[in-house]
Amino acid sequence: MTTAELKLATTSATTLSTTMKALVYHGLGKYAWEDKPRPAIQDPGDAIVRITTSTICGTDLHILKGDLASVTDGRILGHEGIGVIEQIGTGVSEFHAGDKVIISCVTACLKCDFCRRGMYSHCRDGGWILGNTLDGTQAQYVRIPHADGSLYNFPVGGDEEELVMLSDILPTGFECGVLNGQVKPGDTVAIVGAGPVGLAVLLTAQFYSPAAIFMIDLDDKRLAVAKKFGATTLINSADGQAAHHVMELTEGAGVDVVIEAVGLPATFAICQDIVAAGGRIANVGVHGKPVELHMEKLWDRNISLTTRLVDTVTTPMLLKVVRSGKLQPGKLVTHRFAMNDIIKAYDTFGNAAKEGALKVVLTNGGSR
Ligand SMILES: NC(=O)c1ccc[n+]([C@@H]2O[C@H](COP(=O)([O-])OP(=O)(O)OC[C@H]3O[C@@H](n4cnc5c(N)ncnc54)[C@H](O)[C@@H]3O)[C@@H](O)[C@H]2O)c1
Ligand SMILES: [Zn+2]
Ligand SMILES: [Zn+2]
Repeated sequence: MTTAELKLATTSATTLSTTMKALVYHGLGKYAWEDKPRPAIQDPGDAIVRITTSTICGTDLHILKGDLASVTDGRILGHEGIGVIEQIGTGVSEFHAGDKVIISCVTACLKCDFCRRGMYSHCRDGGWILGNTLDGTQAQYVRIPHADGSLYNFPVGGDEEELVMLSDILPTGFECGVLNGQVKPGDTVAIVGAGPVGLAVLLTAQFYSPAAIFMIDLDDKRLAVAKKFGATTLINSADGQAAHHVMELTEGAGVDVVIEAVGLPATFAICQDIVAAGGRIANVGVHGKPVELHMEKLWDRNISLTTRLVDTVTTPMLLKVVRSGKLQPGKLVTHRFAMNDIIKAYDTFGNAAKEGALKVVLTNGGSR
């Protein structure tokens, strides 16, 4: 090798190690798979994780629709992922380089007042920042602040497709839907939205043996999946009569728990129309527009209404249930793409009804 060739080789090696590919948001409806600088340790609590598996969330679709003003031009999207730690800061005590980890969609310092009361979603130095106000996981590498509170060890023999559902949708469905809705044995439950999150509600609601679970969506394919996952009644709301059908089926009583897993004024309206006296409405969906709250109908109904950003405090418990085989979130995976084909993956997930898509799994090849 001549000196010039050597210099060229060294330069391209340096270029390789300082850049990576990532899915970058560029304002309303615009995104591209492009070069970005590889993240580096900035704080002692950081870990740099090489992503092996990621996926796309309904929230990413809300971002593309402009529903989340906090996400700005240039941001790498994605808040779900599995990967291998490449590097850790000097303050990380629970993880080492080479560890395989599950990345939580919520970052937790474990020290602030919110973290100490188990509300990681509102951590003073974290919360839901990944793919929101901080570069996310739909990339080759990601920087995870407060790694000790935001990563989980990937169990030996675990399945990446299955366990990536622990980054977000399983704790979201369980915490925001089932726990906030206080699902109890014998309850009648309605879930509005049969996307991956609504289906995660459906799977985890069954921990408590509700008597009936109504699943409401516009998409018959997703409703058919819900049936396989344990829904007792399917309602396609395309005719605008979903509330009427639920009231008829419950002989005018309505349902004990109604869980909103879409994030639209129309679906929030259904929830108010079908909640029984003494019932609970648990909102899960991300809303970009105001909704109408019909207090003129609800003031005397003894209902409660909850909202929640997932805290991911139940992740260790859910991990045990998945490992036991009692919960099989891998069944939600319908499509698989190489991370390089993420634009196709967005097209598929964004046209879920046509494509028959639920969770689309993205994998990075072994290249560094
Ligand atoms: N609160 C949280 O912490 C949190 C965390 C993750 C996701 N989310 C939100 O949960 C929601 C669901 O996420 P997802 O990944 O399942 O999204 P998704 O887009 O895949 O699913 C939404 C479902 O709603 C259905 N739908 C749309 N309009 C409808 C209508 N008028 N009537 C009935 N069904 C209708 C769609 O057919 C689709 O199946 C999104 O709003 C997402 O942003 C919230
Ligand atoms: Zn999400
Ligand atoms: Zn905190």
